[in-house]
Amino acid sequence: MRSHYCGQLRESHIDQTVELYGWVHRRRDHGGVIFIDLRDREGLVQVVFDPDVPEVFAVAESVRNEFVLHIRGRVRTRPEGTTNPELGTGQIEVLGKELTILNRSETPPFMLDIDDSDVHEELRLRYRYVDLRRPQMLDRLKLRSRVARSLRYFLDDNGFMDIETPMLTKATPEGARDYLVPSRTHPGSFFALPQSPQIFKQLLMVSGIDRYYQIVRCFRDEDLRADRQPEFTQLDIETSFLNEFEVMELMEGMIRKLFAETLDVHLEAPFKRMPYDEAMHRYGSDKPDLRIPLELVEIADLLKDVDFKVFAGPANDPKCRVTALRLPKGCELSRKEIDDYTKFVGIYGAKGLAYIKVNDLSQGRDGLQSPILKFLPDAAVNGILERTGAQTGDLVFFGADKAKIVNEALGALRVKLGEDRGLIEQGWQPLWVVDFPMFEWDEKDNRWYSTHHPFTSPREGDIDKLESDPANCYSRAYDMVLNGVEVGGGSMRIYRPEVQARVFRALGISDEEAQEKFGFLLDALKYGCPPHGGLAFGLDRLVMLMTGARSIRDVMAFPKTQSAACLLTHAPSEVSHAQLRELNIRLNKVPGKEGEAAPSA
Ligand code: AMO
Ligand code: AMP
Repeated sequence: MRSHYCGQLRESHIDQTVELYGWVHRRRDHGGVIFIDLRDREGLVQVVFDPDVPEVFAVAESVRNEFVLHIRGRVRTRPEGTTNPELGTGQIEVLGKELTILNRSETPPFMLDIDDSDVHEELRLRYRYVDLRRPQMLDRLKLRSRVARSLRYFLDDNGFMDIETPMLTKATPEGARDYLVPSRTHPGSFFALPQSPQIFKQLLMVSGIDRYYQIVRCFRDEDLRADRQPEFTQLDIETSFLNEFEVMELMEGMIRKLFAETLDVHLEAPFKRMPYDEAMHRYGSDKPDLRIPLELVEIADLLKDVDFKVFAGPANDPKCRVTALRLPKGCELSRKEIDDYTKFVGIYGAKGLAYIKVNDLSQGRDGLQSPILKFLPDAAVNGILERTGAQTGDLVFFGADKAKIVNEALGALRVKLGEDRGLIEQGWQPLWVVDFPMFEWDEKDNRWYSTHHPFTSPREGDIDKLESDPANCYSRAYDMVLNGVEVGGGSMRIYRPEVQARVFRALGISDEEAQEKFGFLLDALKYGCPPHGGLAFGLDRLVMLMTGARSIRDVMAFPKTQSAACLLTHAPSEVSHAQLRELNIRLNKVPGKEGEAAPSA
C-alpha cells in the first residue's frame, strides 16, 4: 500500500519508512550512488540508492526514464548544501531500501520538464497520456476538478438539482451545425447530439424542478478557434420564478465564491453591467476586455461635410460608423508597424487604416503627421483631437465603414494594441453585458436571426414591436464576460405560447416548421409553464482563464485539433460496410478516393 504521494513528503516525515509508487523522472549516477527522482501526480522526491545492498543497487542501475516503480525507503534530511528550495520535497530525500520495477517504458516522445510551447502540439496530443504527466497539465486538470467541485457545492447549497438530459436527441437551436447520429432502428432518421440542453432544461422547469444544473457535454460542428472545441463542457443552469437581476446576482455570487476558494482572488461586487449598445460603441465588441484602457470615439458628426469621401460617405450613412481610436505614445509606431496593423484590420474587411500622429500638439497642424491631413479642414482635425483627448506623442487611428466592419476591425485592433503595447492591466474585469437586441439581420440570408436563441424573452415593452420593428426589440438576455472572454450567457425565456408564436413569426419560421422542430416545447408551454430563465457557463473557457492557459485545449484532457479530429484515437475514422449497411447508409464517395462510388449497401 502507498504510504504517501512522492510530492507530499516533508521534514515532518523524517525517519519514517515510506512506500512510494511512481514514475522515474530522472536517474543520475553519482560516483557509486544512484539518485532517482520519483514522480507521481503530487510531485517528485529524490530517492538515493547506496551500493551496500548490491541486489537493490543493480535494479536501480537498470531503470530508465518513465519506468514505473514501487520503492520502500526511509526519509532523511538531505546533506548540507544539497537541499533544493525550488522543490516542496527539497529539504529531504528517501534512502531506498527496496525497489520493484512494476513496468518498463520506452523512451518518451518528449521530456516532461518542457513548457507547453517547447513541443509541437500535435506530438503532445498524439501522446496525450504522456503530456498529462507534465506538472503544468496536471495542475490545470487539478484546478478544473476543484472548479467543478466548488460550483457543485454552491449549487447544491442553493437548492439546485443535478439532472441529466439526453445525448441522443433532436436538433437544438444554438446556431451551429449539428453532429448527427444515424438511427439503426429508424432507417433514414438521425439523432442530433445536443448543442446544449436548452429545451430539456426548460421542460424541467415546466415539470416544477425549480432549480436545475448539470455539468454537461455539448456538441457543435463549427469553425474552431483557441476558445472553441467541437465538444465542450457547460455548467448549465435554469431557475423558475427568478427575474434576470436575481439570476445575475446569484450567479455572480457563485463565481465570486469560486475565485475566492480556488484562486484566492476577490472579484468586485457587484459586477459592472453594460448595455450591449454601449459595449459596441465604446469597444466595438459585445465582450469587451475592460483591462485595456483604449476606447472607440464616435466622430461621424465632425466629418459629414468634409471632401474626403472615405470619411464623408460613411459619416452620412446610418448603417455606417466613423470612429477614432487613440493610442497613447503611438508616435513610437514605425511605418512598418502601422502597415502591419493595416493588414490586420483588413482581415475584418476594413479597406484601410487612416491615422494621425500627434508629434507636437502645441504646433497645431504643423505638429501633426498623417497621410489624410490634407483632406481634413481645421475644424474637423481640432474636433477629433479634442474628442479623443490626444496628447503630444499619441497616435489616432480611424475606422470608417459599415458599422459591423468598423466594430470588428477596430474592436480587434484595440485588443491587439493592448497586447502588443503592453497596455493590458493586471487583474480580473468581470462584466455583465445586458440589453441585447432580440434579432440580428443576416445580409447573406436576407433574414432576421435570434441574437441568442428563439426562446429568449423579449422585453415586455417590445412584444408589440416584434413583427413591425424587429430591429428595435431588445431581449432579456445577459452574457458574463471576463477579461474579454464570454464565459457564460443566458436569458429569461418565453413562457407564454402566444409570445413564442410571435417570435417565430418575426424570425420567418412558419407555424408548421415551428411545430415540426419545437412542437414538444410549444405544447409544454400550454401546460402550466412557470416564468423561468437561466444561463450556461463555458467551463473550459472559465478554467482556461483561471489557469492562464492560452487555449481551451490545454484545460481539456483529450481535446480535438483545429480540424475537429482526435490525434490520439484517430477519430473520426472510416467504418465497415457492414456497419453502414446496418444503418442504411450508402456513401457517395469513398473517403480519400475522389469520384469512386462506394460498393452498394
Ligand atoms: P451559448 O451558446 O452562449 O448559450 O453557450 C454558453 C457558453 O458556452 C461556451 N461555449 C463554448 N465553449 C467552448 N467551445 C465552444 N464551441 C463553445 N460554444 C459555447 C461559452 C458560452 O458563453 N443554451 C444557452 C444558454 C442559456 O441560454 O441558458 C447556450 O448554450 O462560454
Ligand atoms: P485612400 O484614399 O484609399 O488612399 O486612403 C487614404 C487613407 O485612408 C489611407 O491611410 C487608408 O489606409 C485610409 N483608409 C481607407 N479606407 C479607410 C476606411 N474605410 N477606414 C479607415 N481608413 C481608411
